[in-house]
Amino acid sequence: MGIRQVGVVGAGTMGLGIAQICAQSGYSVTLRDLSEEIIARALARARKNLDGQVAKGRMTAADVEGVFARLATTTRLADLAPADLVIEAAFEDMAVKKPLFAALEGICRPEAILATNTSILSPTEIGAATKSPGRTLGMHFFNPAPAMKLVEVTPGLLTAPETVAAAEAFCRSLGKTPVVAQESPGGIVSRILIAMRNEAVDLLAEGVATKEDIDTAMKLGAGFPMGPFELIDLIGLDIHVTNSDSLARELGNPKYRPNPLLRKMVRAGLLGRKSGRGFYNYGDRQ
Ligand SMILES: NC(=O)c1ccc[n+]([C@@H]2O[C@H](COP(=O)([O-])OP(=O)(O)OC[C@H]3O[C@@H](n4cnc5c(N)ncnc54)[C@H](O)[C@@H]3O)[C@@H](O)[C@H]2O)c1
Repeated sequence: MGIRQVGVVGAGTMGLGIAQICAQSGYSVTLRDLSEEIIARALARARKNLDGQVAKGRMTAADVEGVFARLATTTRLADLAPADLVIEAAFEDMAVKKPLFAALEGICRPEAILATNTSILSPTEIGAATKSPGRTLGMHFFNPAPAMKLVEVTPGLLTAPETVAAAEAFCRSLGKTPVVAQESPGGIVSRILIAMRNEAVDLLAEGVATKEDIDTAMKLGAGFPMGPFELIDLIGLDIHVTNSDSLARELGNPKYRPNPLLRKMVRAGLLGRKSGRGFYNYGDRQ
């Protein structure tokens, strides 16, 4: 089936980026979120992003107008009915994703593909909220979605092979490189990076080195663009702890368990950049 119309659910960090790269690649996109206010804020972010691309000479003003001409927004899920592919990027919560997939199954044509951008939840479980799990799968974009080249395509247990092939072809049409990872908590990248971040916190808690030196070591010694503590602050300590717990539980392996220091910091409200303070201080954004 050819994909021409794309629906995106959730206009947050990921959904907006995914909608933007799809519209940039020539697809007609309908982006759905819960309120006009959220959508207006998202569109303002997209405008700022794309104007930045024009300022850097990477896009023309006409390209940007083309993106907005192809990008419709709505608060009504039913408006995603014409989509050939829906990518869900709503909150990371089964209680949100399952009803969304059940509703999308009733709204979209039987041949439409229903994908979730979940980082850590099970595409099999999300797909099981529908009666047609063969057309559901995970398509895990990375942040920022317009720039990051990788998409992990994660079939659930009952995903049909043609759904996987169509998702891979779609990713290539966006200029992305898809890799297929059979469903497993954290896929490839998150699983490796979560373990790495927890190892860094263990090193700190054991007094082996300061956070600054651990960050410097990973940047200069391993070529990482940012150190593990800078990365945890960016992701949010609460999200890192939730994802680590989920990996430890699902894989039954304590090596993913977050260091108690992280839990203490979350309880103290030190969530990283978003709260103004995590491992580092970010001024007055309290
Ligand atoms: N942020 C990341 O780095 C990242 C990377 C890869 C994958 N993900 C995954 O992508 C998904 C979205 O993450 P995010 O960081 O963009 O979250 P976010 O909180 O920035 O955005 C989520 C958006 O979904 C909207 N929403 C919630 N319920 C909805 C519904 N029923 N219908 C429509 N919109 C709804 C919210 O209003 C919000 O605007 C999550 O599953 C997350 O795990 C996030």
